[in-house]
Amino acid sequence: MAASLPQDISDTELVHLARTALKRAHCPYSKFPVGAALLTESGEIILGCNVENASYGGTICAERSAVVSAVSQGHTKFRAISVVTELNEPASPCGLCRQFLVEFGDFKVIIGTAFNTKILITSTRDLLPFAFTPESLDTFEHEKASAASVDTEGDSKEQAATTMSS
Ligand code: THU
Repeated sequence: MAASLPQDISDTELVHLARTALKRAHCPYSKFPVGAALLTESGEIILGCNVENASYGGTICAERSAVVSAVSQGHTKFRAISVVTELNEPASPCGLCRQFLVEFGDFKVIIGTAFNTKILITSTRDLLPFAFTPESLDTFEHEKASAASVDTEGDSKEQAATTMSS
């Protein structure tokens, strides 16, 4: 679901929207509902909830559900995401979701609960130190390209040396 909202939505408002998403969770197996509200750079809100499956491994978490929905709707830049559970303390996203979120850069993560006002504020980068990111792949491409150019330089120097000595 995408709704146009002002860009200056507060953390608390984003948590409230994540609570709305939590109510839509499909979690008949764990009975552990999770809701997420993702704020896009353009100020839209995309909701996500966990969607479980009888084949348990097919389950998708609320955070990834929101990101998948957002990307499918053409959004790849985000300002914040809020995540809520029914625990009494803010519960931070699982490892796979951290990886999934940091793919889209460093943005605010607001972790709340369904039943009280406790909030923990962090960021995608802080949630996953030493992350493997798209930049890691870019670095690899650059390193490959510069290694190839060193090789080529080496080849032409070798060729020049051969020509001079012959
Ligand atoms: N879950 C999420 O939605 N997000 C997380 O970051 C952690 C776990 C869901 C997956 C599953 O449906 C339920 O919570 C119990 O693991």
